[in-house]
Amino acid sequence: MNEKQREENSQVNPEAKKTEKDYSKYFQAVYMPPSLKDAKKRGKEDVQYQSDFSIPEEFKGLGNGKKFYIRTYGCQMNEHDTEVMAGIFAALGYEATDSTEDADVILLNTCAIRENAENKVFGEIGHLKPLKLEKPGLLVGVCGCMSQEESVVNKIMQKHPHIDMIFGTHNIHRLPHILKEAYLSKEMVIEVWSKEGDVIENLPRVRKGTTKGWVNIMYGCDKFCTYCIVPYTRGKERSRRPEEIIHEVRQLAAQGYQEITLLGQNVNAYGKDFKDLDYGLGDLMDELRKIDIPRIRFTTSHPRDFDDRLIEVLAKGGNLLDHIHLPVQSGSSEVLKLMARKYTREHYIELVRKIRTAMPNATLTTDIIVGFPNETDEQFEETLSLYREVEYDSAYTFIYSPREGTPAAKMQDNVPMRVKKERLQRLNSLVKEISAKKMKEYEGKVVEVLVEGESKNNPDVLAGYTEKSKLVNFRGPRETIGNIVKVKVTKAKTWSLDGEMAEEAIEVK
Ligand code: SAH
Ligand code: SF4
Ligand code: F3S
Repeated sequence: MNEKQREENSQVNPEAKKTEKDYSKYFQAVYMPPSLKDAKKRGKEDVQYQSDFSIPEEFKGLGNGKKFYIRTYGCQMNEHDTEVMAGIFAALGYEATDSTEDADVILLNTCAIRENAENKVFGEIGHLKPLKLEKPGLLVGVCGCMSQEESVVNKIMQKHPHIDMIFGTHNIHRLPHILKEAYLSKEMVIEVWSKEGDVIENLPRVRKGTTKGWVNIMYGCDKFCTYCIVPYTRGKERSRRPEEIIHEVRQLAAQGYQEITLLGQNVNAYGKDFKDLDYGLGDLMDELRKIDIPRIRFTTSHPRDFDDRLIEVLAKGGNLLDHIHLPVQSGSSEVLKLMARKYTREHYIELVRKIRTAMPNATLTTDIIVGFPNETDEQFEETLSLYREVEYDSAYTFIYSPREGTPAAKMQDNVPMRVKKERLQRLNSLVKEISAKKMKEYEGKVVEVLVEGESKNNPDVLAGYTEKSKLVNFRGPRETIGNIVKVKVTKAKTWSLDGEMAEEAIEVK
């Protein structure tokens, strides 16, 4: 729903707030569903940059004495949106809690990427019902990518009236208004804009840690891979201005952060939307590498837009890490064509060759979908052979899941589930085999580990990640937490390394 529609709607039925929930009326008058069709539009109008977000006086103190809880599903983009919402809650006076029972507001920040992601959220919506009945003052909201889907919004309205708020990915900055409306109204408050998207700066953030930070460099996606819902749920590609990003990274460096991950659905398209600047991801990385922060990564790369300038800058090394997540999706050029990935197997292999020539130690990881419509056994074998050829360190692997409104959902989902599962299993054994082999190469070597905290299973053991994102468990003093230390690898496992400290914490700052 756009701003204008919202205004019109609020005028259509001024009585709505005072009446009990009556959804027949609601459907006719108050509510305009988000539209996947509208979300697909990529108009010519400029992206709106709003640089001065602030919380209006009228909302200050709204959360005094109250607690919020956010459960996050999906990718890092969603994790980071949660940090922004936590920032807004804090600015309103709310306190964070990690228990749903203690919370006065619960938000589910949802993911729509595959059907099982959505099922999990609907399960959770059901679980929260008794709590809501017990505590009528509790507000429960659904936000994130699922809220951008009309079928989801309709289902919640019809089957889960205990939900108080639904708002979309373009409406996060409106959280204070949405909360206030939800407190005042007996109706479900729904604010989902099917717009192409703006860039809003100066949003508050409460980050999850003090060592690793996420920084958005762009929003949205224009690639429209035929299986993917993201271009519909996140709007069009729009880049933040370089100076805003550089400023944010500098601030994080000054606060002692050790690692930054630059975020976007297709970070290689960074800057393509600037009309006044010829500036891409390579240029941005070239400036960021001068900032005094030990590690800078980015995710996710699209192979099509990965250009020579970026490779040249990454090859300068320093704080730019040479671990590149480069989703391939399939090893068959025919399947890639049906997926509209806009590269062939050969292009991809050539890109890998260029990256490895410039950065001989580069580590590659990937995403792969099995069982895309019409995928034959031979085409799946091509995925396995590409995997062997590239020798990825690791991969996220998925069974194709049709998403309503995408072009692939109109294709016949004709690979039987049994075959999809077999393919996934075969692929996963290969991923495991090569991961174990790559891990083995680390035995006896010294790696630099950014220590994150105690290991999950044993509080006497510390855990952290190498530059190549390998999990390392080792015994060492707790004072090393938050620093980068040298660790000698004593034993390689399939997914992690065991080691012992090779020296005292390196003085990073
Ligand atoms: N922007 C990123 C990916 C975001 S989604 C990129 O283009 O690489 C993360 C991964 O989920 C994708 O790389 C893809 O492998 C998988 N995925 C996306 N849509 C899917 C679907 N409909 N079914 C199964 N897997 C899917
Ligand atoms: Fe989805 Fe493709 Fe965009 Fe990635 S690049 S978010 S897979 S449409
Ligand atoms: Fe999921 Fe939305 Fe991320 S669909 S993967 S949360 S962009």
